[in-house]
Amino acid sequence: MRRYLVLLLVVLGTAGATAAACALSAWWWCLAGPLLALTGAGCRDLLQCREPVLRGRPLAGRPRGGRAVVLQERAAGVDVYAVGHEFLVPSLHPVEPPEEPPVVRVGGPDCRQPYDMALLNVSGMSFGALSSRAVLALNRGAEQGRFAQDTGEGGLSDHHLRGGGDLVWEIGTGYFGCRTDDGGFDAREFADKAALPEVRCVSLKLSQGAAPGGGGMLPSVKVSAAVARERGVPVGETVVSPPRHRVFSTPRELVLFLARMRELAGGKPVGFKLCVGSRREFLAVCRAMVAEGVTPDFVVVDGAEGGTGAPPAESAGRLGMPLTEGLITVHNALVGTGLRDRIRIGASGRVATGPDIVKRLVQGADYTNSARAMMRALGCVDAGRCHTGTCPAGVTTQDRLRARALDVDDRSRRVHRYQRATVRSAVRVMASMGVREPRGLTPAHLVRRTGPTTLRSYAELYEWLEPGVLLAGPPQSWAADWKAADPDGFARCGDGFSGR
Ligand SMILES: Cc1cc2nc3c(=O)[nH]c(=O)nc-3n(C[C@H](O)[C@H](O)[C@H](O)COP(=O)(O)O)c2cc1C
Repeated sequence: MRRYLVLLLVVLGTAGATAAACALSAWWWCLAGPLLALTGAGCRDLLQCREPVLRGRPLAGRPRGGRAVVLQERAAGVDVYAVGHEFLVPSLHPVEPPEEPPVVRVGGPDCRQPYDMALLNVSGMSFGALSSRAVLALNRGAEQGRFAQDTGEGGLSDHHLRGGGDLVWEIGTGYFGCRTDDGGFDAREFADKAALPEVRCVSLKLSQGAAPGGGGMLPSVKVSAAVARERGVPVGETVVSPPRHRVFSTPRELVLFLARMRELAGGKPVGFKLCVGSRREFLAVCRAMVAEGVTPDFVVVDGAEGGTGAPPAESAGRLGMPLTEGLITVHNALVGTGLRDRIRIGASGRVATGPDIVKRLVQGADYTNSARAMMRALGCVDAGRCHTGTCPAGVTTQDRLRARALDVDDRSRRVHRYQRATVRSAVRVMASMGVREPRGLTPAHLVRRTGPTTLRSYAELYEWLEPGVLLAGPPQSWAADWKAADPDGFARCGDGFSGR
């Protein structure tokens, strides 16, 4: 109720001043007039649906709305002379952009129900981390724009299914949504839900950039009765997903489990999400794929710059590879093992604009996912309160009154328009680079300022492997990691980082 306090006080003041003006003296109109205008403005805030913060905090939210705009304008400036600045390479012979933006077919040889993925999709964010209205608005936006929404690891809720949008159902270490009583993986429940037509792909989350190796966490204030029901956990108790999976303990077991998931899901595309740490460990997974002749259909690489709905971790940004290196590592490892044609790569980590998408495609991705930019389309004002359950925009709260700030119809249209405009921008940027299809992009299309007078393209900055070279005879720079990569034990891959 505190959020409506300012409006309430203004209404009471207006009533008092108006009564005094009628009963005592006409001078009271000097106060009643402005208060009446304020009451009108407050009612307009309450009833409009364009600004969620104002809807949730009539009158009181006005100063915050102003601040958000200023921040956005400041962020637009780019220092093109700063070391580390990167730019895409335009062509003197641009091409016409295609009428329809390209999509990416996800589905390797063992997949029986391939899926055409958009260039930009909604990254994993659970019901629990997000409000039911936010989940539904994302889902409806996805339906309108024909792109996919990753459910996040909190299970497949009604809100994910009500909007008719395509879903990537994510399973984390807590197996929420397909969880046995003792916290294991329930194959039958998984198969039943994976059969739903809305579920287009299934994804096993190994780790995420905000807290790799740490498991997921949902603070107790956000574990409402509805969230608890979805996850099969007690109401009001913090939910901590274990840091690692029970269903596999070696790279080979991981690969075989992915194949089992695909079978249980009726041949729908299966993949996994990770924030890369050691190159050896990822190579061990590739070795297991080669040895078993089994591949997932996609891998999503999350950068260490990734976000989370949990409290800010002290490790944020300090554990795991940033997206650039993670992406290039995964792309190279799959190319080098001759598996790249069968496996699509998704990328997440501060993808928000058309040029961001193109940059990630140059670095080896086939498509991208976005979490925080989608939250902004939902009305997020970066209040930094996701973990407290008091989000003023109704995006990350489980409080029904606060969630009311988010108008589902309006916000789903905004999510749709944001995705469409961003993908169109990516397509236009590619066209100005002389490229009509993502596969026309090469590492020479992205350049970094490495010093006050030096520029280097990604073709020069990073090593790019030839198809199958790791199997045929790895270059010296990869030989030690390739040798140490053991498909039968993550621990046996050796400790620590060894990649370039
Ligand atoms: C509120 C919130 C909740 C998230 N929940 C999940 C989750 O359940 N599963 C997951 O794999 N990633 C989760 N993430 C991470 C995002 O999916 C994404 O990988 C990361 O934030 C990087 O993308 P971004 O920079 O576009 O936000 C969450 C992120 C946010 C901001």
